[in-house]
Amino acid sequence: MDQRPIGFLDSGLGGISVLGEALRQLPEENYVYFGDTANAPYGDKDPETVCQLTHQAVDKLMALDCKAIVIACNTATSCAGGQLRQELHLPIIGLEPALKPASLLPGDGKILVLATSVTLALPKFQALMALYGKDALPVPCPGLMECVEQGHLDDDHVRGLLKTILSPWLDQPIKAVVLGCTHYPFLRKAIAPFFPADVPLIDGNAGAIRQLKRRLTEENLLNSAGSGSITFLSSSEDESTLRRMQKMLALCQ
Ligand code: DGL
Repeated sequence: MDQRPIGFLDSGLGGISVLGEALRQLPEENYVYFGDTANAPYGDKDPETVCQLTHQAVDKLMALDCKAIVIACNTATSCAGGQLRQELHLPIIGLEPALKPASLLPGDGKILVLATSVTLALPKFQALMALYGKDALPVPCPGLMECVEQGHLDDDHVRGLLKTILSPWLDQPIKAVVLGCTHYPFLRKAIAPFFPADVPLIDGNAGAIRQLKRRLTEENLLNSAGSGSITFLSSSEDESTLRRMQKMLALCQ
């Protein structure tokens, strides 16, 4: 049994949607969550910069003696996940747009993959497209993570932006929508009405945490008798950021 915490990182609040899933599947683990709010967003920076920021965030978590790292950000995973796995000898779990499960769904129609411009442009996603992208339409969503950061989860502001982003794609049958950024599960209520009720909105959170559980089990790192403590950290000095993190976690429970 290993009581050390599991480290989570994201550019801001989005990875809390992944942390919420971790608390469901692994309620007895201890967690440290780092939001790089001072450097957000990652999704429109150049990949080299995102790679450096991700390394810095991982260094902070390693200094806190984390036993595993969840890169709870599709953008950071695309930019730095491969490199970090080579450099570090502990389980590193990344996020990628859940295109594979979406492509396995029965039925016709396109799969909209909503994600940051960086995620969609990098080789990791291109490889996923080559395998599972026959029906996929990649849709970059500039400005959408900022809505989550600013608390616009289901109001006119975010609905207006979603209308601009989604309208060009709505004149064809859609069989699924992939939420390929960890901020977007917080916008489910705002996104769902743009599609028929039977169109699933799929995120990669449950799959990533199943993978975390498998890796912890394999490496004998599980903590089956812990208290499930959570420590929030942010690169922003602003006290209100930590309060917002608590609030976002409450939305996941
Ligand atoms: N939450 C991050 C992701 O999953 C991106 C947000 C950002 O642009 O920083 O891609």
